[in-house]
Amino acid sequence: MATLNLELGGSQAAPEDADDGVWLTCIECGETFAPFDDVRYTCDDCDGLLEARYADAPTFEDFEGRGVWRYSEALPFEQGVTLPEGDTPLHRAPDLEDDIDVRNLRVKHEGMNPTGSFKDRGMTVGVRVAQEVGVDRLACASTGNTSAALSAYGARANLETLVLLPAGKVAAGKVAQASLHGARILEVDGNFDACLDIVQDLAQRGEAYLLNSLNPFRLEGQKTIGFEILERFYEDEGRFPDRIVLPVGNAGNTAALYKAFRELVQGGALAPGDVPKLTGVQAEGAAPMVEAIENGYEDTERWDDVETRATAIRIGNPVNAPKALPGIRNTGGTAVAVSDERITEAQRNLAEQGIGVEPASAASVAGLRKLRLAGEVGPGEDVVCLTTGHLLKDPEAAAEAGADPEPVPNDTDKVLDHLAGKRVGVGGDGLLGKVLGYVR
Ligand SMILES: Cc1ncc(COP(=O)(O)O)c(C=O)c1O
Ligand SMILES: [Zn+2]
Repeated sequence: MATLNLELGGSQAAPEDADDGVWLTCIECGETFAPFDDVRYTCDDCDGLLEARYADAPTFEDFEGRGVWRYSEALPFEQGVTLPEGDTPLHRAPDLEDDIDVRNLRVKHEGMNPTGSFKDRGMTVGVRVAQEVGVDRLACASTGNTSAALSAYGARANLETLVLLPAGKVAAGKVAQASLHGARILEVDGNFDACLDIVQDLAQRGEAYLLNSLNPFRLEGQKTIGFEILERFYEDEGRFPDRIVLPVGNAGNTAALYKAFRELVQGGALAPGDVPKLTGVQAEGAAPMVEAIENGYEDTERWDDVETRATAIRIGNPVNAPKALPGIRNTGGTAVAVSDERITEAQRNLAEQGIGVEPASAASVAGLRKLRLAGEVGPGEDVVCLTTGHLLKDPEAAAEAGADPEPVPNDTDKVLDHLAGKRVGVGGDGLLGKVLGYVR
């Protein structure tokens, strides 16, 4: 195996303008910046992505309490704007584990966060930073979940919130959340990447504080997914998982988990050989990260036309690729693309285990199955699949993947007659294959 580079990079010593042991470092040129004096999302010198850095690396002994703020020793504040978030289940999925044929299959269900996705972990930190830098309007571009989370946390913090969504491409549950929490919803005639271009312009012009994952503090909150997985898995199994499989859109989680692992390695709490292999999954119709991994590119090439039923990951220009590609490579992981049909199948597979997720989340399981079938994942592996959003986020997709309701007469005997009939044409053979019918 190639030598794994798990260094954080840049100077580990706090620069003069660090604030209470926290500062920002450019991942490209190493320039450092004060964390909260000015609003800044990328490097002033080279436009590279920024990363939060701390004078002290965390160890497992530092963590106490519950949820995201259990990990405050590895975060820029002691407490944030909280609903509260984190502390999500690490489900067992025994039938799926047997079926896919791995030693251990666990499902980290991030859909169990307050607004139904992992984005809440980023927002509890990001909105706290917004208060610190003193802004009055928050904004994000979103495939849906970011807007739902930002709207809730913005409301909680009493800050005006603006969300830019690709018109007609956001699942109903997510728009409903943003709407009820009181955000202004701007529907853009373009895809997510176009929305992000506009919101970045607005942020550059000082019109709003950007809370997409380009904002390095969002990823600090999302890093806690990694800490939680390691702690829980170790508690149950006495070892760390071999691999974490996750859906990839903007590649924020991939970058965040990689950072969590590197910080633990830096603090001596995790041996480099115990770092799980980060394995990214994209939909075939939106797979620039997979293309970059397969072809050994330094950065992703923007896909202008993206399409997938997993609308949450319908993204052609993953802004965190410069952080996430090394994360996949340096942990010995890989990336794989899956079809929408396989995503729907995986959504059903998870539902059969009682775990209700939205399509993008099921991509992780579809990807694991594909890699296992190809022999790239071995039968002896301990695997955690990350499911990022709740089933109710996209009720339309769930209804399409599941069984239709059966109309019955208002009469018990007739209901029994109906139940005695034979169930035919059970679904499961692809997107349009759901033909659940009943004969008497
Ligand atoms: C449900 C869901 N899964 C996955 C993703 C992609 O996450 P990331 O941008 O961290 O790759 C998103 C975010 O857009 C999402 O909403
Ligand atoms: Zn720079």
